[in-house]
Amino acid sequence: MLSDGPDQACQSVCGSDLLRWRRLQLDQGGRSVDLDWLLREEAGLDWATLQRLRLDPGRSVRLLTGLGHLQTLWRRHCLQHEPLQYLVGRCPWRDLELDVAPGVLIPRQETEQLVALAQECVGADPPRCWADLGTGSGCLAAALARLWPDALGFGVDRSARALRQAQSNLQRWAPAQRVHLLAGDWWAPLQSWWGRLEVVVTNPPYIPTATWAALEPVVQRHEPRLALDGGADGLAAIRLIVSDAPRALAPGGWLLLEHHHDQSEAVQELFQAAGLEQISAHRDLEGNGRFVVGRCAGGGRPRPEFPTQPASRHG
Ligand SMILES: C[S@@+](CC[C@H](N)C(=O)[O-])C[C@H]1O[C@@H](n2cnc3c(N)ncnc32)[C@H](O)[C@@H]1O
Repeated sequence: MLSDGPDQACQSVCGSDLLRWRRLQLDQGGRSVDLDWLLREEAGLDWATLQRLRLDPGRSVRLLTGLGHLQTLWRRHCLQHEPLQYLVGRCPWRDLELDVAPGVLIPRQETEQLVALAQECVGADPPRCWADLGTGSGCLAAALARLWPDALGFGVDRSARALRQAQSNLQRWAPAQRVHLLAGDWWAPLQSWWGRLEVVVTNPPYIPTATWAALEPVVQRHEPRLALDGGADGLAAIRLIVSDAPRALAPGGWLLLEHHHDQSEAVQELFQAAGLEQISAHRDLEGNGRFVVGRCAGGGRPRPEFPTQPASRHG
């Protein structure tokens, strides 16, 4: 017997009833992988338990929330294409559970690799100062802050909503680390730290406008265009970021950039044109070219003293 008032905080459900409920939800539309994600994230029903119910539907399971509440969220997802992550207000990413809300990009799985690439670049010599350009939810900033707890970090974004979200995620996941969030365009708010940024990661908007216009509604209608639309060829933000990198990075500093699956060659050319060195391209877990890494000249020299205050020089 299902009793599913939306106000019901916790309920025990018989497996056969739950499996029937699940089929009814899928009849409304949507993908089973997404419904199972919702069951896991909002009701605490993990995949292995769901599989066991198929073998033994007479078992009961305890859900963290009522089926009525789950059904309301699923209907909003199917009918209004609202992303499930916005509906539940959070998103697992790496070893973190990040808060997400409309107006701020939902962190993607492929972006997790930027953290591993940054780690590979610096090896056993952590940077003293790093930045995340276009920080969004603060996913990369939180991961880097935890990775390099003694370093000074910066997250930059043009969106005030993104900066508020990043602030709350950083407070939760890296409360003791020194990460400053700055409003503005790419490198500009960091000007007083130019020449001292030893690692810079960025996942800028890179989807060509025509592709953005044709994206599935769950993304196109609900996630912020500022985070996604990279102009006619998708490279508008990337051009700006890469061309200023040699002025802003420390000697030997690394730039790690995520891009659209078909932009690897174009982005490598931009890195070369900017005079960056040790350029390498990397694939995501789907096998698509997704990241380009490059280094500012001067990597062989000993690292200069690192002042704890910003430089007074601007430009
Ligand atoms: C693709 S999202 C990446 C967000 C986050 N780093 C992530 O990986 O999930 C791009 C971010 O760049 C920000 N952005 C767009 N234009 C910008 C600009 N001119 N200067 C700084 N940030 C900008 C957007 O607000 C958005 O948060």
